[in-house]
Amino acid sequence: MTRAYNFNAGPAAIPLEVLEQAQEQFVNYQGAGMSIMEMSHRSALYEEVNNSAQALLRELFGVPENYHVLFLQGGASTQFAMLPLNLLQEGRPAAYVQTGAWADKAIKEAKNVGDVTIAASTKEDHYMRTPNLSEIEIPSNASYLHLTSNETIGGTQFHEFPVTGDIPLIADMSSDILSRPLDVSKFGMIYAGAQKNLGPSGVTVVIIRDELVKAGSKSIPAMFQYATHAKSNSLYNTPPSFSVYMVSLMLQWIKSKGGVSQMDQLNRDKTKLIYDRIDQSGGFYKGCAQANSRSLMNITFRMETEELEKLFVKESELQGFVGLKGHRDVGGLRASTYNAVPLSSCQALAEFMADFQKRNG
Ligand SMILES: Cc1ncc(COP(=O)(O)O)c(C=O)c1O
Repeated sequence: MTRAYNFNAGPAAIPLEVLEQAQEQFVNYQGAGMSIMEMSHRSALYEEVNNSAQALLRELFGVPENYHVLFLQGGASTQFAMLPLNLLQEGRPAAYVQTGAWADKAIKEAKNVGDVTIAASTKEDHYMRTPNLSEIEIPSNASYLHLTSNETIGGTQFHEFPVTGDIPLIADMSSDILSRPLDVSKFGMIYAGAQKNLGPSGVTVVIIRDELVKAGSKSIPAMFQYATHAKSNSLYNTPPSFSVYMVSLMLQWIKSKGGVSQMDQLNRDKTKLIYDRIDQSGGFYKGCAQANSRSLMNITFRMETEELEKLFVKESELQGFVGLKGHRDVGGLRASTYNAVPLSSCQALAEFMADFQKRNG
């Protein structure tokens, strides 16, 4: 079988080794005579999957003891609402950094719940950069500061984070979790839909400091309270068991490749191939994000005309590339290079870009 050069933005590439391991265990998980999907989520075998996925995430990302690792449902989009429902307090605005389409969605949901203040915005720059830390103004009575560590659509990424003192820093890391080492203790909460860097869709990871779980509102429905899920080890209701299982395999794969620092190095090597091709094209390819805000996960670029971009996508598809069309809201081109995208796919794309320029430049 020929594997596609998969640059999808999410759901996205999963390593072949992980897929093959899942295939091997698909029908008969550990000799149980049934698949993981057919098994009670209260069974010892599933509990082991749930616990080992949590433990591996803690180990790989250096999650401190006083944090919970939760596996929830509803995608990162549900977190846009669940976060303010739990932590936006009366008389204490939630501060948001506005860096693009995903931050905008998070802001919109928070406004449905309470007072929101924009701590910094790069809207005037068409979201083609992240703000300098000195631009971020946090009210001293803020409930929390929220930012989107990687804007999947615009292709920008924070390369350093504000220090927020007693105000909890909350990050939507849907598109860059586990792509680089971070000091988790600097964040009050991190959340991410799994379908980019952690495996398949269907499960959302929430890493949250214990004091924030305790501080969460008790007057919202039980399913929306972080405390409910923390208390029950993410087994309050039926979990997305197959997705959690796939995340556990993906985490084992990251560990086997040397962990998060190795992912970081690999992601740098991969994206350099493509950014160099853009920068050395004499303007034939134009990178969208400003240089110091460029994402190591989503490379966004444009060409002189939309016709040329369409031709690029069409020809790339004929050569086995998938997912290079930009998001429908912004157009252009985008290559998503998450952890599971191999270096060889990026080499192939850099070569294709050079060849396409030769023929059309
Ligand atoms: C940065 C970011 N946040 C949130 C989301 C929404 O995630 P979900 O589809 O899991 O709700 C996405 C999806 O692409 C994303 O890229």
